[in-house]
Amino acid sequence: MRAILHDRYGPPEVLRVGSAPVPEPRDDEVLVRVRAAGVDPGVWHVVTGLPYAVRLGFGLRRPRHPVVGMDLAGVVAAVGRRVTGLAVGDAVHGTGRGSFADYAVANASRLAPLPTALTFEEAAAVPISGQTALAAVRSAGDVDGRRVMVLGAGGGVGAFAVQIAKAQGAHVTAVCSTGKADFVRSLGADEVVDYTRTDPTPPGAAYDAIIDTAGNRTLTRLRRALSPSGVLVLVGGEASSGRLLQGFDRQLRALLWSPMLRQRLVPLTARQSRADLVSLARLIDAGEVRPVVDRTFRLEDAAAAVAHVGSGHARAKTVLSLG
Ligand SMILES: NC(=O)c1ccc[n+]([C@@H]2O[C@H](COP(=O)([O-])OP(=O)(O)OC[C@H]3O[C@@H](n4cnc5c(N)ncnc54)[C@H](OP(=O)(O)O)[C@@H]3O)[C@@H](O)[C@H]2O)c1
Repeated sequence: MRAILHDRYGPPEVLRVGSAPVPEPRDDEVLVRVRAAGVDPGVWHVVTGLPYAVRLGFGLRRPRHPVVGMDLAGVVAAVGRRVTGLAVGDAVHGTGRGSFADYAVANASRLAPLPTALTFEEAAAVPISGQTALAAVRSAGDVDGRRVMVLGAGGGVGAFAVQIAKAQGAHVTAVCSTGKADFVRSLGADEVVDYTRTDPTPPGAAYDAIIDTAGNRTLTRLRRALSPSGVLVLVGGEASSGRLLQGFDRQLRALLWSPMLRQRLVPLTARQSRADLVSLARLIDAGEVRPVVDRTFRLEDAAAAVAHVGSGHARAKTVLSLG
């Protein structure tokens, strides 16, 4: 089968189009014929091996898994012996191992049926970013009638977070650069702050919750824009320096500080599950959330797709279409 391979860490150019054996599903896994694969910053981290902390999970000296990619949408081609509820021919989406290939394996618990109205490309845009946004809004608590700010609102996670918070009754302020203002408004944001012109975190802004997906602003700066009992959900944000942790140190500091504060600081680690995919499908089928695919690349152009997302300024989602 065709596959996007890497045998060393480095810039996206280390990726090459090659061939690999079709993987065999274990007892609790499913083999998926991949029709589209999502690209997110996590893939960029695995390709570059940065920050170095990533290598603890993905191979210290070289990548442990030669085939890249996690998000996928496609058709079930085979099921392991212990898999129930999925059958050959079912259209599914979720996360697996090595989705930048014609076939990938996925644990059955991380797959769900394709939301009815979505193309494979749209469905491949949902799993990681959608589930992360869902977890972020949940971590913010009951947002109904509350003022929620989403930093990085025009990105993969941010675009979902704006829509999910709106669906739950929040008053949403979306923070993005000038070129994405119309886009985030179209997602339902009540207010838009262009961070290139206005400081989105002025003292006394008193947001009930801030969902931070970008910019790596300091905890002090973010906290001053929160109400005294507000919640800060730290999703991520690419730092330009610090190759060991690259911004992850902020999550660790939040963990240490939070018990001493009235404000709640939540360093988010999103998990993947069928239940959350099903919750997202309900929102999508109800028309309250829509995945937005901004750029589609061919499988052969995976390196360009990863570089695009790695720029840190992608709009909504980027996917690979395998036809
Ligand atoms: N904690 C978890 O479990 C988890 C899970 C998934 C992802 N993440 C992390 O979450 C972060 C966001 O992921 P993503 O998929 O949404 O990334 P993305 O698609 O690249 O979006 C990031 C957005 O940030 C905006 N941005 C860049 N610099 C900014 C700044 N200084 N201030 C405000 N906005 C800025 C960019 O738009 P502009 O053009 O407007 O700048 C871009 O749209 C990444 O760091 C990712 O690694 C964490």
